[in-house]
Amino acid sequence: MAVFLYSLLFVVFSTTLFFFLRSSRCRRLRLPPGNLGLPFIGETLQLISAYKTENPEPFIDERVNRFGPIFTTHVFGEPTVFSADPETNRFILQNEGKLFECSYPASISNLLGRHSLLLMKGGLHKRMHSLTMSFANSSIIKDHLLVDIDRLIRLNLDSWSGRVFLMEEAKKITFELTVKQLMSFDPGEWTESLRKEYVLVIEGFFTVALPLFSGTYRRAIKARTKVAEALSLIVRQRRKGSEAGERKNDMLEALLAGDDGFSDEQIVDFLLALLVAGYETTSTIMTLAVKFLTETPLALAQLKEEHDQIRARKSETAALEWSDYKSMPFTQCVVYETLRVANIISGIFRRAMTDINIKGYTIPKGWKVFASFRAVHLDHDHFKDARTFNPWRWQSNSGATSTGNVFTPFGGGPRLCPGYELARVILSVFLHQLVTQFSWVPAEDDKLVFFPTTRTQKRYPINVQRRNVTKLCKD
Ligand code: HEM
Ligand SMILES: *[C@@H]1O[C@H](CO)[C@@H](O)[C@H](O)[C@H]1NC(C)=O
Ligand SMILES: *[C@@H]1O[C@H](CO)[C@@H](O)[C@H](O)[C@H]1NC(C)=O
Repeated sequence: MAVFLYSLLFVVFSTTLFFFLRSSRCRRLRLPPGNLGLPFIGETLQLISAYKTENPEPFIDERVNRFGPIFTTHVFGEPTVFSADPETNRFILQNEGKLFECSYPASISNLLGRHSLLLMKGGLHKRMHSLTMSFANSSIIKDHLLVDIDRLIRLNLDSWSGRVFLMEEAKKITFELTVKQLMSFDPGEWTESLRKEYVLVIEGFFTVALPLFSGTYRRAIKARTKVAEALSLIVRQRRKGSEAGERKNDMLEALLAGDDGFSDEQIVDFLLALLVAGYETTSTIMTLAVKFLTETPLALAQLKEEHDQIRARKSETAALEWSDYKSMPFTQCVVYETLRVANIISGIFRRAMTDINIKGYTIPKGWKVFASFRAVHLDHDHFKDARTFNPWRWQSNSGATSTGNVFTPFGGGPRLCPGYELARVILSVFLHQLVTQFSWVPAEDDKLVFFPTTRTQKRYPINVQRRNVTKLCKD
C-alpha cells in the first residue's frame, strides 16, 4: 500500500511538473526541438525497446533525422537535452564545473560513497583528479605497472584450457590488476573473497530504475559495507606502516602521503570508486575486442603476425617491455577501433547550472543534458562506414573523416578518464598474450545480452587451444 501511494504521488508530482514546464517556461525559452512523450515515463520505453533490437541506434537516429543533432526528450523521469553533435559535446565536457556539473541519483552516490572522485566537485575534485592522473600516467605505467600487468595476465592465462568464459576471466584479471595497483596486494584468497562481495556491489549499479524496491540493491548496500570494512582494515595497517617509515609504490601510499590529511573513510571511498570505474569498462572492452577480431579474420591474422614478430625477438617467457608495447602499431588501431565501435560509456549525463545558450537554443537551468559519444562515433559524417569494425581506418590518419574532436571514448575536460592510458595498455598486453598463446573459436551456448552497441553472449564462452609456440621463438 505504501509503495502504491508513493508511486502515485510521484506520478502526480511529475505530471504537474511536466505540464508546468510545457506551458510556461518552455514557451519563453527556445528549447531544442523534440518530443517529451508521455508524462512521467516520457520516451523511456522507446529508448529501452530500441536496445532490445539488433540495432539499438534507431532511438537516436530517428530523432536526429527529424530534429537535428540536438534534441529534447524525456527519459528516466526527467526532460533531457540529447546531443549527437561533437562541438556541443566538447562544449559540455570542457565546461564541467562552470556551466554544467555531473549529477548522479542518490542510489548511485550511496553505493559509490560520498568521497569518490566521480562525485567530488570544485577545488578538491581538481586536486584529486590530477593525483589520479599522475598515478596512472605513461611514465608510471612504463616504470612500475607494466611488469605486473604482464605477469598477472600471463598467470591467469596459464590456467586456460578447453572452454573459457572470456567475460568472467577478463573481470578476474581486471580486478586483480586494480587491487595490485591500488594497494600492492597479489591475487590470493583475500582478493577472491573481496571480489565476491564486490560483484554484489556492482550489481547494485544496474538497478537504477527502481533501486528502493530492489533486493539486489539492498544486497549491494550490505556488500558495500563489507568491502569498505575490508579496505579500512588495510588502510589502518598501512597508515601504521607508513608512520613507521615503510614505503610502497602504489595509489594508497600517494593518498596516505598527501598533504591533505585524508581520513580513512575518504581514502576507502576513493579506492572503491577507482575499482568501480575501471572494472566493467576494462573487462568489457577486453571481451569485445576478442569478439570483433573473431568476426574479422583478416584483422586477427594481421594482429597475430604483429605479436608473433615481437615474440620472435624474445624468449618464450620474457616479460613484455615498454619498447615492445611501443612497437604494436596495428594493435593500437585495433584498440581504437574497439573503443569506437563498442562505446562502453555511450555518453555522459550532466546538469545545467544556469540557462545555457548553444547553437541558437536554450538549455534551461537545472535540466539534464546527455552528450552522446556513441551517436558521434557511429555517425557516417564523421567516420566512413561508421558501423563496421575496420581497424585499418586508424592507419592513415586520425581515423575520422572530419576534423575536430570527434573521438572521445574517455570523455574529456576536467573529468577526462584518468585510466585512459592504463586501459589501453592492459588491452594491448592481454591481446598479445592471447594471440601468441592461443587460437580459439566461439562456443555458442550462453545467454544473449545487450552491450551498448552490440549484442553478444553474456559470458562470451570460447574454446581455446594452445598454439605451438616453440616454432615462434628463437630462444
Ligand atoms: C576501456 C576502459 C574505460 C573507459 C571506456 C572509460 C571511460 C570513462 C569516461 C567516458 C569517463 C568520463 C565520465 C564523465 O565525464 O562523467 C571516465 C571517468 C573515470 N574513469 Fe574511466 N574508463 C575506462 C577505464 C578506466 C580505468 C581502468 C580506470 C581506473 C584507473 C578508470 C577510472 C575512472 C575514474 C576515476 C573516472 C572519474 C573521473 C572524474 O570524475 O574526475 N577508468 N571513464
Ligand atoms: C607522471 O607522474 C609522476 C608523479 O606521479 C611525475 O613525476 C611525472 O612527471 C609524470 N609523467 C608524465 C609523463 O606526466
Ligand atoms: C611444435 O613445433 C615444433 C617445430 O616445428 C615441432 O618439432 C614439435 O613437434 C611441435 N609440437 C607439437 C606439440 O605440435
